[in-house]
Amino acid sequence: MKVAVLGAAGGIGQALSLLLKTQLPAGSDLALYDVAPVVPGVAVDLSHIPTAVKVTGHGKDDLADALTGADVVLIPAGMPRKPGMDRSDLFNINAGIVKNLIEGVADNCPNACVGIITNPVNTTVAIAAETLKAKGVYDKNKLFGVTTLDVIRAETFVAELKGVDVSSVHVPVIGGHSGTTILPLLSQVEGVEFTDEEVASLTTRIQNAGTEVVEAKAGGGSATLSMGQAAARFCLSLVAAMQGENVVEYTYVQTDDSDDAAFFAHPVRLGANGVEEILPYGELSAFEEKAKNDMLEGLRGDIKLGVDFVNG
Ligand code: NAD
Ligand code: LMR
Repeated sequence: MKVAVLGAAGGIGQALSLLLKTQLPAGSDLALYDVAPVVPGVAVDLSHIPTAVKVTGHGKDDLADALTGADVVLIPAGMPRKPGMDRSDLFNINAGIVKNLIEGVADNCPNACVGIITNPVNTTVAIAAETLKAKGVYDKNKLFGVTTLDVIRAETFVAELKGVDVSSVHVPVIGGHSGTTILPLLSQVEGVEFTDEEVASLTTRIQNAGTEVVEAKAGGGSATLSMGQAAARFCLSLVAAMQGENVVEYTYVQTDDSDDAAFFAHPVRLGANGVEEILPYGELSAFEEKAKNDMLEGLRGDIKLGVDFVNG
């Protein structure tokens, strides 16, 4: 199994690469790519950790080597938010970065599964899909927007509020990855009851959790460590599924469901070739149904922006 991390010298990239170096199955290759000159040093640093995962570092002009033979590509390359910005404010700079890197994927590892972390995820995943289509190598089962951070946050906040063991809490989170497009399904959490006020305040906290970190870091970036953990969980689940395990994760995928949006986070059964089955997200409460209907137009608009960026 070869995993490539593009943007590996950044805040997320370094945390994620550390977790993958220590947790990927023995015998895996981990290729680190970044335009920042420090990336070979990050690879040397990680290579001193005694695990049977081989780490290589690849600078600006070495994207092809980083990607050749990759089974999984994770992309956290690009600019993070500062206080006062929305994720959509990152579009102008990050859209082109994602398009260029995905062209590299199409040229060097067209069969790889690709996880997009770069914001705005609602839009960058559509950019990746259209770029792969233009190259004639798009497989909708192999492209994912990584929304695992919303899930782990929701689980943490529910456990904190209810005083229960976090390892026993499972919170479905569907939709997209910004503001109200993030839709936690608190009505489906087993073993705890919420008042209407708790549902409203917890939903808002989960939707604004990224901003909570951006403000706390006061201009120093957005979530990197929790995102590293979330992306590592997603990647390790995907790798396990590709090696035959039965794994379900919530992730933003192409659904072809005209009632929702072209891309929508669902529970997804992962398998040897990426998406094995998109599972239904089940029954929504009246609160969740309204929240979904209220945000769909915005999510569809975010997706259209990505489609138009590639197709002109
Ligand atoms: P960062 O600035 O710490 O790191 C970004 C890295 O990308 C840098 O090392 C930079 O050199 C590199 N980079 C820039 N252009 C590149 C290119 N063309 N090729 C390769 N590398 C390139 O930022 P960060 O905090 O790691 O965040 C990265 C992205 O992830 C941001 O867009 C942020 O909004 C997003 N993010 C997404 C989620 C999520 O839940 N999906 C969570 C947190 C952050
Ligand atoms: C997050 O949810 O933490 C990320 O999308 C980063 C951000 O800008 O909030």
